[in-house]
Amino acid sequence: MALSDFDPQDFLDQYWQQRPCLLEQALPDFICPVEGDDLAGLACEAEVESRIIIEQDDDWELRCGPFSETDFTKLPAKNWTLLVQGVDQWIPEVAEIFEHFRFLPRWRTEDIMISFAVDGGNVGPHFDNYDVFLIQGAGQRRWQVGQHCDEQSSLRQHDQLRLLSNFDTQNDYLLNPGDILYIPPGVAHWGHGVGDNCITLSVGFRAPSSGELLGHWADALAAELNESQRYRDPKLVADAESAFIPDSVLNELRTHLQQKLDDDVFLRKWFGELMTATHKHSIEVYEQQGEQFSLRLGARLAYDAYYLYADGQAFSYSEHQKNAVKALCQLEGDAILAPELCQQLGETLLQELQKNAILIMDDDDY
Ligand code: SIN
Ligand code: CO
Repeated sequence: MALSDFDPQDFLDQYWQQRPCLLEQALPDFICPVEGDDLAGLACEAEVESRIIIEQDDDWELRCGPFSETDFTKLPAKNWTLLVQGVDQWIPEVAEIFEHFRFLPRWRTEDIMISFAVDGGNVGPHFDNYDVFLIQGAGQRRWQVGQHCDEQSSLRQHDQLRLLSNFDTQNDYLLNPGDILYIPPGVAHWGHGVGDNCITLSVGFRAPSSGELLGHWADALAAELNESQRYRDPKLVADAESAFIPDSVLNELRTHLQQKLDDDVFLRKWFGELMTATHKHSIEVYEQQGEQFSLRLGARLAYDAYYLYADGQAFSYSEHQKNAVKALCQLEGDAILAPELCQQLGETLLQELQKNAILIMDDDDY
């Protein structure tokens, strides 16, 4: 399922994390897997994160879901957008869209957010901190692409939305179904629905901030340490100025912290777990009987030379399981894991993955 007329390596070299790029008709004859009513239905569910943004007189109002049916009847005729986060977790045909982006690390993809806009609907001029592919699903949207921004860029006064005070339009595009606009982190963008049925699918990527990475790493590490591992003095001098912190203390401390960072097994395990962690909804552990296994919709998998990572957990595996682990991580949609690979994976790991609802058992007549 490659994008049409698209050279992945050229895209990675020239655009990825650098410059915006319009991929016209990258998905020719694209059939949008959802309609506005489907999104409105999802936005009424408590487990689904949704928002409505209404623009009026150069000001934007944010309403957060879950919504009720009557909330939708009270909306103005123009200038509003409904945004539903993580639609790939609920609709398999939406999750299939990820398959077009397999030229990128699979564990970097985060979710597919879908917006439905009436004429003029827009979420305001802004930038995001992660890469996004904006796929036009239905109707048309005008996208203005602006300047590179960062934490210093000045924002409008708004309690809930981070909207830019200045927008310097550098490109102006009209997207039709099947067109994709790639926006790297930090690039200003502003889309307006054209007509009353504009659906845009945003394929977003997981990019933890350095603060999140360090905080998460330190928490995970601290959980494995014990109370007897503590600060120790470097060689002390008896008559030293007693309030002074000498460089030798800092050097000792740096060595102590560096040793933790150099723990390769810990670092890889922590990172694999972090990048595959899912926001688990009320996942049911299926009690179905059957012989065949497929992945649960929304399961996140990755592997390295030592571990299989699935939904934020690391499972160690050995050499003879390697091919099966690799194949498992590459399963798409409801495809089943071939019986010989199940056998290679072995009863223990299969059961463990099933217990955690990463693998689900399919009834083979189904
Ligand atoms: C939208 O779909 O209206 C907004 C998506 C975005 O700007 O990231
Ligand atoms: Co955006």
